[in-house]
Amino acid sequence: MTITNNHPGFGTATLEPPVDVRRRACSADEFSPLREIVVGRAAGAVIPQASDPSAWLTLYSHLDAGQVAAVDGGALPQQVIEESEEDLETLAETLRGLGVVVHRPSSVDHAAPFSTPHWDSASGMYSYCPRDLTLIVGETIIETPSPVRARYHELDGLRELFRGYLLAGSAWISAPKPQLRDSLYGVGRDGLPVLTEDEPAFEAANVLRCGRDLFYQVSTSGNEFGRIWLESLLGPQGYRVHPVRDVYPHTHLDSTISLLRPGLVLLNPSRVTEDNIPGPLRDWDRIWCPEMRETGVSATGQSLSSPWLGMNLLMVNPELAVVDSAQHELIARLERHGISVLPHTLRHDRALGGGFHCVTLDTVRDAPAGADYFG
Ligand code: NVA
Repeated sequence: MTITNNHPGFGTATLEPPVDVRRRACSADEFSPLREIVVGRAAGAVIPQASDPSAWLTLYSHLDAGQVAAVDGGALPQQVIEESEEDLETLAETLRGLGVVVHRPSSVDHAAPFSTPHWDSASGMYSYCPRDLTLIVGETIIETPSPVRARYHELDGLRELFRGYLLAGSAWISAPKPQLRDSLYGVGRDGLPVLTEDEPAFEAANVLRCGRDLFYQVSTSGNEFGRIWLESLLGPQGYRVHPVRDVYPHTHLDSTISLLRPGLVLLNPSRVTEDNIPGPLRDWDRIWCPEMRETGVSATGQSLSSPWLGMNLLMVNPELAVVDSAQHELIARLERHGISVLPHTLRHDRALGGGFHCVTLDTVRDAPAGADYFG
């Protein structure tokens, strides 16, 4: 679609999608054959200061106030950035080689401070994890209301791409812009940070999509109010949003459950049990993830994720996965279930808090939107 607007006395504005956007965004699950994807960037990454209550809540929610006081934020060492950029480019090359169209976020100055009437943020964060803040449900691009103040402008890096998808025919919406006042951040009796129910707040990576069913993890990065908002949007369209409660309290769902193909799921045995497995998945075949091989937290000495990031894999199609090359036992188990593996490495995945699912955002997969995998 091309839009032309003749402004009197100003000239003609013609809007066209970027050259690499030729079709609308359409992605309804985690495993159907991949056609287009965003691969993140490490350049310019800044880790928010832990004195920011929203950073404590989502990056260090396993630490109490005393422990988090010792944590440093700020720019990452150049070596971490450069090696991560290399690893992301290698991933992008692999995907291009499979015929997938790869988009990259445009450059954003994450070091710039900013404020709202209610708070100041010393910096932004990064474009490393495009999965985190954008949820694509069928042909609708949803910007999610992250509780992290430093991430308020993060999607600037994907704006041009989303503008292109809109011109190509996708819907592009944002959840109610969160205010992120201090009252959204509490401290529990155990001394750990808590996300309150002040307003809808959640990150896209709290959600896994499976046709007309979505799994929404209630945690430090997604509250019940956020689930209610998502349900209010998608319920009338025939989607079912299943709450995942009391499984894993710290941020995202994708180091706990990976949907591999219809009828087959990978589960984290340290978090999922026979009692708390989300209802619709009870009838699926399960692969229990083996213990992760520790790959360390790299040059920064600090980690934004647990070792279970090793099960944060990307399905290219129901028979092919990109998996951390260090996770030999996991790779063997996937292969036994008929899934071939492309082993890849993200040397600083834990320092930056993102594995292969996190550092990507599948924008087009060949999948029937609204397919019922549990009917
Ligand atoms: N916070 C999660 C990572 C989510 C991708 C974990 O540490 O396991």
